[in-house]
Amino acid sequence: MRITFVFVYMLEYKPIASMAGQGTKSRSTFWYSKFMKQLDEKVAIITGASSGIGEAIALAFAMEGCRVVLVSRSLEKLEAVRQRLMSTECEIHEPLVFVADVSSEDDVVGLFENVIAAHHRVDILVNNAGVALGGLCEEIELSTWQTVINTNVTGAFLCGREAFRVMKPQGGGRIINIGSVSAMVPRLNAIPYTTSKFALKGMTHGMALDGRDHGISVSVIEPGNVRTPLWETNPNGKKIMQEEGAMDPSDIARVAMLMATLPPDVNMVESTLLPLSMPFLGRG
Ligand SMILES: NC(=O)c1ccc[n+]([C@@H]2O[C@H](COP(=O)([O-])OP(=O)(O)OC[C@H]3O[C@@H](n4cnc5c(N)ncnc54)[C@H](OP(=O)(O)O)[C@@H]3O)[C@@H](O)[C@H]2O)c1
Repeated sequence: MRITFVFVYMLEYKPIASMAGQGTKSRSTFWYSKFMKQLDEKVAIITGASSGIGEAIALAFAMEGCRVVLVSRSLEKLEAVRQRLMSTECEIHEPLVFVADVSSEDDVVGLFENVIAAHHRVDILVNNAGVALGGLCEEIELSTWQTVINTNVTGAFLCGREAFRVMKPQGGGRIINIGSVSAMVPRLNAIPYTTSKFALKGMTHGMALDGRDHGISVSVIEPGNVRTPLWETNPNGKKIMQEEGAMDPSDIARVAMLMATLPPDVNMVESTLLPLSMPFLGRG
């Protein structure tokens, strides 16, 4: 298959970038899309890839030919994800594993230095690492507040900043933030989390604007309930998901894939995903 592709592609060579966004498919674009995986030769850093939504996005990207870099604080969990990715029937590039706390500037700078040393570029950053801690307003410890803000907001900023430092000189890239419907309709007793997801939405718009003239697109996916370990810290988690419904992490990965594979001059700025049964849209 690959040999056929090379033959056809050389017959009618066009730089890939110039094909992107064409209204009608040229013959070479047709053959290209038929024989290449959608993210061939792309490099993606995915934070919070050791479980849940991050793992699902890593799997989806890797199966489309992407060189994925899996990031979280736990080497053991990341290794397990790497093994799971490698054991799929699909042929994938061996994922890189990098232990980093996204709220640490040193860790994040080190992460990007290592990825550049290994792959020489970063095409996609998925800011997915997140924690959901809360409680009654009057009882929330400062340390709880700081953990949530440092992870969900400062972590996304630090990774985004390092991505800009790489993407600007390389001529572009994509940043996909994993926000939440909490940035529109908050839950009770979740002030730090709600605040963090409102902030992430604002950061998305600010970064999208700053990236516009440099080919960097920045977007946010805002999911409702998703079945992941995130809910384990919520005593009502099981009940909420039973009553309201919940999506599979792979549902979120499909949207991340759509965003990641849009032509470079197109940005899907926001996307809200809900379990159909979730009481989010209104009354009655
Ligand atoms: N599940 C939902 O219903 C839902 C809904 C809307 C939005 N989201 C968002 O989706 C994202 C992923 O959450 P999930 O549901 O997939 O939960 P999850 O399974 O608990 O995953 C969270 C990930 O973040 C990583 N992480 C946490 N703190 C980190 C830090 N300081 N540095 C690096 N990595 C860190 C965790 O890895 P380690 O523990 O190994 O570090 C883990 O891989 C979060 O941003 C969350 O807010 C989830």
